[in-house]
Amino acid sequence: MRVRHQRWLVGAVVGAGLAALGGCASTEAAATDPAPQPPSPSSAAPGVPPVADAGGTSGTSAAPFDLTAHSTTDPRSIWVVVNKQLPISPPDYRPDPMALVEGYQVSPAAAPALEEMLAAASADGVPMRITSAFRSRDYQEGVHEATVARLGRAAAERISARPGHSEHQTGLSVDLGSLSEPGCNFDACFADTGEGRWLARHAVEHGFVIRYTEATTEITGYQPEPWHLRFVGRPLAAELARTGATLEETFGLPGGDYPR
Ligand code: DAL
Ligand code: ZN
Repeated sequence: MRVRHQRWLVGAVVGAGLAALGGCASTEAAATDPAPQPPSPSSAAPGVPPVADAGGTSGTSAAPFDLTAHSTTDPRSIWVVVNKQLPISPPDYRPDPMALVEGYQVSPAAAPALEEMLAAASADGVPMRITSAFRSRDYQEGVHEATVARLGRAAAERISARPGHSEHQTGLSVDLGSLSEPGCNFDACFADTGEGRWLARHAVEHGFVIRYTEATTEITGYQPEPWHLRFVGRPLAAELARTGATLEETFGLPGGDYPR
């Protein structure tokens, strides 16, 4: 059952015609990290439990899902909600320590599950690669300005977050790319690649959700991005799969376009 809270929607109705390029097409090089930490369960950010323990009650239990198990405002929390209405606070946040997965910077809270998911995909014969992970506020500013220059502001805003508003700054989101059909990377056709289909089916098992879908453009404020995976932990990922709701709907938080 899809939960709808239309009262806070601000009307970012998104056109379907634009190619989904640019907004996530860049990343901050891992080589810039002066002291990367290897990913390990013991390197979880303060207050963030290991993956196996992360989240509320089991989605299979009759008990209601505990929506208070983690903060939705602390950028270190695996349940933090970042969107056009809800900027990251503090504005210059970056995970500390940082983990590395395949040379990309990610939050230590997401790294073990990401490694596990990539290994599972490979084991299923669907290897894929990371194309973008953590992006600092300054880096996102450059990405966003370049996208605006290329597409114009209106189109750019549908695919690229303004600095301080990107989930990539939390280190909990990654963009994944196809090895079998690289021409579909950062494109809508990624959804129809073997990699895109595998993620749509299996990401939840590893605690990830596809954050931007066709059904949720008004709420998220972005066009579908079948390559953009957000780590929330297995319990919440299962709950979102069960309800079909977004993070905003689940937690009763604002979404849609930027405040005017
Ligand atoms: N492409 C996503 C919305 C971002 O820029 O964070
Ligand atoms: Zn992304």
